[in-house]
Amino acid sequence: MRSTIQMLMAGAVVALWGLPATAQDAKVARGAELFAARKCSICHAVAGKGNVKHPLDGAGARVSADMIKMWLTDPKAAEAKTGKKAMPPMKSFASLPAEDIDALVAYVLSLK
Ligand code: HEC
Repeated sequence: MRSTIQMLMAGAVVALWGLPATAQDAKVARGAELFAARKCSICHAVAGKGNVKHPLDGAGARVSADMIKMWLTDPKAAEAKTGKKAMPPMKSFASLPAEDIDALVAYVLSLK
């Protein structure tokens, strides 16, 4: 009896932890696909692949979700806010669907 309850509790813990992690993993994976499809690597490198002048390794630890979103949707505003002069100027991805922007933000945040 006791072990049944323990098993049920363990199951609940797995369900609570497992499901959101899986949804988050799917979002990150989609973001990685978009990163390739949208050719972010023309200007940015991840793990040495792409343009090493602007590496995004560790970006998740130093750039907030809001700032990543601003770079994607309004790079001029992001430059003004950070005082960085993007060379070459970052292209705006404001025309992408909101889910794609979210996925790209999740992917960049995963780069710890
Ligand atoms: C035409 C070149 C170009 C393209 C294409 C580009 N970026 Fe950028 N991006 C830049 C530059 C330059 C900066 C400023 C980097 C710096 O000075 O640290 C920047 C900044 C960023 C930052 C903030 C980095 C930081 O350290 O503060 C993020 C995040 C980012 N870009 C993500 C992306 C993503 C995701 C894509 C593809 C959807 C992309 N960029 C496409 C040029 C580009």
